[in-house]
Amino acid sequence: MARATFARVLTQPAPLRLPIANGGFENDEVVLSTPVVLAPMAGITNSAFRTLCREQGAGLFVSEMVTARALIERHPETLRLITPGKGESPRSVQLYAVDPIVVSKAITMLMEENLADHIDLNFGCPVPKVTRRGGGAALPYKRRLFENIVKASVDAAKPFGVPVTVKMRVGIDTDHHTYLDAATAAARAGVAWVALHARTAEQMYDGEADWSKIATLVEHLKPTGVPVLGNGDIWSGEDGARMIAQTGCAGVVVGRGCLGRPWLFADLVRAMNGDSRKSEPSLFEVREMMIRHGNLLVEFFEAEGRAMRDLRKHMAWYLKGFTVPREIRSSLGMVASLGELEYLLGQLDDQPYPTAVSEGPRGRKSHGRTPTLPDGWLNDPDEIPAITIDDSVSGG
Ligand SMILES: Cc1cc2nc3c(=O)[nH]c(=O)nc-3n(C[C@H](O)[C@H](O)[C@H](O)COP(=O)(O)O)c2cc1C
Repeated sequence: MARATFARVLTQPAPLRLPIANGGFENDEVVLSTPVVLAPMAGITNSAFRTLCREQGAGLFVSEMVTARALIERHPETLRLITPGKGESPRSVQLYAVDPIVVSKAITMLMEENLADHIDLNFGCPVPKVTRRGGGAALPYKRRLFENIVKASVDAAKPFGVPVTVKMRVGIDTDHHTYLDAATAAARAGVAWVALHARTAEQMYDGEADWSKIATLVEHLKPTGVPVLGNGDIWSGEDGARMIAQTGCAGVVVGRGCLGRPWLFADLVRAMNGDSRKSEPSLFEVREMMIRHGNLLVEFFEAEGRAMRDLRKHMAWYLKGFTVPREIRSSLGMVASLGELEYLLGQLDDQPYPTAVSEGPRGRKSHGRTPTLPDGWLNDPDEIPAITIDDSVSGG
């Protein structure tokens, strides 16, 4: 984008207010001076990764998704997933739920045990094993069930002064858009905001997010006063500022753009304050970040081998665009200890940040495909079906 246009989009957005009464926050609310939220990403946004992003300055950082059922069954790994980082506040937990009673129990448990300050509900998952059962992005089509789940969540969190938000996609496919009705129902149920990933389930991660849908939702929800957060394809600070300027959304949710680039949050803070400078860490600075990530993962998993297995998926993202000998890249892809990580990274010479290669799209890029739905799913939007959860469900 030309410089002049960029200057035009850099009007400072208003802070985003998240009403939280239980945490001793000032005036019972958290004010996100830069309205930026780290998107929940299963397998990525654990407390280690959130810590790296938080250190860059912006906003709110949502946990990996956990299922409401696994929470009430107290699965140890689920309880690990909601562990906050040191000093993390507010603690934001994303839940996947398909049943109002179960979600209500899960939230009551989180509240009574003081484990969360903000609950986000995931209605965006497009993967077949979830939509096949009517969950994820398929669920809002059953509008009564959707509203019951959201209402049960808000009602369970309300006595504790904890806000509930929802995250959704545009709909199932081109012919079955659900976002406008679902957002109205969520607003009626009392959510603090609606976040929209501007793709349908059919699109998975294909093509480009259609930001015009975010603008449409902003207009649609205006009478309710419920803010809209936009999500999809923010790869730079400039993209974040542009999404706000183009769509009128109250804030942005950022996912894949920060994979291997936690400093994107610093760029977003700057861009939203009228400063177009970008972080361009040298390879040595990126190396520091990788080692820190590794150490934080060891704390999180309490097991070095497991931490390194988790870190392996981040290697290519961190090193994207840098010149790294093939043997070192492949050894990093199998790294088994912190010592080995440091040794391998110690073999590299410093290099400037490869801005041109590193700023484009990254992460999941799956092609679109017709969503798999339960038989007859589209026949009756008012039906209240019983949906089961696949235990291995993850992702959005
Ligand atoms: C690896 C991965 C895991 C994800 N897991 C979740 C999840 O657990 N919950 C959710 O609501 N969305 C999830 N998403 C979707 C993201 O939150 C986000 O909506 C999507 O990536 C689009 O935003 P982006 O273009 O900024 O990446 C996931 C995405 C990725 C790439």
